[in-house]
Amino acid sequence: MHVHRQERLWMALGIAMLVVFLAVITTAAVVDGFVPPSHVQSIDPTRVSETPPFDHPGLRKVADGAYEAYYVARVFSFTPASIDVPAGARVTFYVTSADVEHGFSIPETGVNTMVTPGWVSTVSHTFKEPGTFLLVCNEYCGAGHHLMAAKVVVK
Ligand code: CUA
Repeated sequence: MHVHRQERLWMALGIAMLVVFLAVITTAAVVDGFVPPSHVQSIDPTRVSETPPFDHPGLRKVADGAYEAYYVARVFSFTPASIDVPAGARVTFYVTSADVEHGFSIPETGVNTMVTPGWVSTVSHTFKEPGTFLLVCNEYCGAGHHLMAAKVVVK
């Protein structure tokens, strides 16, 4: 088969760029220890239900108006399914997965993170107005993905 010389050149250039990109990513991951953004704490994904504080997921009050919410994502639900916080509360969410990659998103709040098995994702938000916020999984995780939701009730 005859491949035009300039076409061969373009293919070689494309392959060379792929090799450079993969080398950069691999170097960053292995040498510099890069991890996904917001994932600073690791966890054994096979032992989530025995690892504190994820053995008792839920809401903890840390100070007046400041809360920590620990969530476990697994096909196809979030635990806890619902939390109640007062208006004005600053909530820091700590989320991990007991199985596959999930998403953790509260639309129109800026809360949006991937939930990767083996890592704890952290994101904070101040709920200024009362209301019921839907919390959804926005990473396709299987047949029941569209059913995977919880809520945050601000009173
Ligand atoms: Cu969990 Cu999609």
